[in-house]
Amino acid sequence: MISLPRSISVSKKINSSLPNRLPGSVNPVEIQPALTKALVSWFKKAARDLPWRHSNDAYRIWVSEVMLQQTQVKTVIAYFHRFLARFPTVNDLAHAPEEHVLHAWEGLGYYRRARALHRAAQSLVQAGHQNLPPDPSLLATLPGMGEYTRNAVLSQAHAMPLPIVEANSQRVLARILGVKDDPSRGPVKKWLWQSAAQLVCHKNPGTYNQALMELGALICTPQKPACLVCPARPWCAAAASGDPESLPLKSVRAQITKVSEICLACSQGPQQSRRWLLLRRPASASRWAGLWEFPHCEVPESVTPGKTMLDLALSLFQAPLPATTTTLGRVKHAITRYQVEMQVEVAHLKNQLQPTSLNHDQHQWFTAPQIVQLPLSAPQRRVWKLLSNLSE
Ligand code: ADE
Repeated sequence: MISLPRSISVSKKINSSLPNRLPGSVNPVEIQPALTKALVSWFKKAARDLPWRHSNDAYRIWVSEVMLQQTQVKTVIAYFHRFLARFPTVNDLAHAPEEHVLHAWEGLGYYRRARALHRAAQSLVQAGHQNLPPDPSLLATLPGMGEYTRNAVLSQAHAMPLPIVEANSQRVLARILGVKDDPSRGPVKKWLWQSAAQLVCHKNPGTYNQALMELGALICTPQKPACLVCPARPWCAAAASGDPESLPLKSVRAQITKVSEICLACSQGPQQSRRWLLLRRPASASRWAGLWEFPHCEVPESVTPGKTMLDLALSLFQAPLPATTTTLGRVKHAITRYQVEMQVEVAHLKNQLQPTSLNHDQHQWFTAPQIVQLPLSAPQRRVWKLLSNLSE
């Protein structure tokens, strides 16, 4: 399991000691009725046909909103269909084994979302609910249910006039309201949420909230916003300034850090029934908890990949690796501000050695058909693709 370096350098773009004043130049209350009417009617004409917009079912909306956190709409669509075919109701999800839920999530990343969704479904069923009830305080107690997700579900499924602020709506609101401060800063964020609450349309809260997000996705884009066709233009401070792209202000930007890793894939047995050693990450891991992976670790700066691999084998089997290895290729992936390049080495062993667990919960030797069914992270699935080409 890799441990990523903590010392990253950060360059500040914004003076964080700004005066304590209202960050916006527009009063939300004054523009609310006309703006919300324009956005709702624009959405009815211009919205994309997305599968979670076909019904008001709270469970379907909840699943879509959780998937849409950190993931693009075009990626989510196929996952959404597959997930709901596999777990059509809260009850089906609650009774599914966690491995099945993680497998259905595989490739979407941020697996904590799937685990929280699963546990939340179990809590609902235990409390006697078949679906998410229109009860904000009950929803607030569910795992993974932040203010954004809760309000998105309650406004769309139960027409409750609750505000949302996520990446797209944050940009739209910062521009309309002329927020000349970093919207990720605590007090500014708070002010944006308060303003979003003042702006919510009471007649069609779900449609209005979706309109805000849709406007951010289609018109009020980070670069080159299409102000000329924007339904919010008459009320938008950023458009009026002539430089809409200047808002929202960019927040502190972290520098990308490169990380090298070595992955040691150990196989055993004849080609037709070959088995591979995988380890299961602990449920408490901060990333990819509960997922399976081929043994791998970070290559420290002062150590060569070859020596790191020998050290990894030694800590895995408490003995030097009894086989030569072949370099199979490299798998690259990015996590937050880290760019990871993993060198994949293969060793074919005479016997199924039993490893120590390192920092893992379990280890097991799996056949290829079993590995296809296991939940793996996206980079580990790519490692398996390399290895399975080799076994064919
Ligand atoms: N991003 C977050 N929620 C969304 C939704 N309901 N539709 C489109 N994009 C979204």
